[in-house]
Amino acid sequence: MLEIINSLLAEISEAKVRGQEDLESFRLRFLSKKGLISDLFEEFKNVSASEKKEIGQKLNLLKQSAFNKYNSLKSEIQAPDSGSKIEDLTRPSYPFNLGSRHPISIIRNEIISIFERIGFTVSEGPEIEDDDHVFTKLNFAPEHPARDMQDTFYISRISSEDSCRGDILLRTHTSSVQVRVMQSQKPPIRTISPGRVFRNEAISARAHCIFHQVEGLYIDENVSFADLRQTLLFFAREMYGKEVSIRLRPSYFPFTEPSAEMDVSCTICGGKGCNVCKYTGWLEVLGCGMVHPAVLEACGIDSRKYTGFAFGMGIERPAMLKYQINDLRLYFENDIRFLDQFKTAF
Ligand code: DAH
Repeated sequence: MLEIINSLLAEISEAKVRGQEDLESFRLRFLSKKGLISDLFEEFKNVSASEKKEIGQKLNLLKQSAFNKYNSLKSEIQAPDSGSKIEDLTRPSYPFNLGSRHPISIIRNEIISIFERIGFTVSEGPEIEDDDHVFTKLNFAPEHPARDMQDTFYISRISSEDSCRGDILLRTHTSSVQVRVMQSQKPPIRTISPGRVFRNEAISARAHCIFHQVEGLYIDENVSFADLRQTLLFFAREMYGKEVSIRLRPSYFPFTEPSAEMDVSCTICGGKGCNVCKYTGWLEVLGCGMVHPAVLEACGIDSRKYTGFAFGMGIERPAMLKYQINDLRLYFENDIRFLDQFKTAF
């Protein structure tokens, strides 16, 4: 009998169950009234008096270990749903915490999609640039103030007084991508270049040393200022609403001639005058002009055959207007409470 008990002890200690059915077979085999342990207790009556003590102790041990094993197997198969029975199927599901796009990305994507509809491609260039692409090929004079350390972040300056072409710097505008595109593609060129730019500015609610621009470039035969105006009018109406008007004011940029700045009628007051447009009825949106022949030539494009226009705009300001953001620093702090507010936008 001792041998039987020992072999049952071994079987019990190694028993495994995969579910409720296995557990029930275990119970029936060892613990039920007609189970093996009951039988053994029945047989125990016939055990000789001399063996009773030892076998009795073993039998009790067997019964206890069968109970313990049964309980531990039971909690094992119930563990995954921690003892609960059927879930409440009417309970609302756990919320999925979806991410959101950054407001700058939302506006950038909107600008890209407007220009893509009229045949513009998207091109990119490096943020760490050389002087040649940021200034020289764009017709900036060697002593132009934008080249000053006070405006531009230099990574390495190897310039002598008369040549700064080898200087490495953080691009101060996305116009540098114009140069790269003209150097690597033949007209017709129709492209926009969104990207980050860097200027050595003290950080405040109204200025930041990092911001975003979108550059536009269109080069072909017979491109005129009228094409520029009509393209920008289309853009302004898609971006700010069908009812907006635009106005072009003469301006100056070294890389365009003639140059202009474009305003749109104030999207807040509709042009009547409010504190956002400083009671002028207009908001300044972008700089533009006809690409200077010297720039075309510097980039290897025949300025007698081809003409073109270019424009450049910031992304922070339109986003500020659209979402009523009053501090530029919010864009760069990545505070979840700020970013969470753009969840419904794409
Ligand atoms: N690069 C100019 C800036 O950062 C913006 C600009 C003005 C771009 C006129 C152009 C342009 O392409 O034609 O202020």
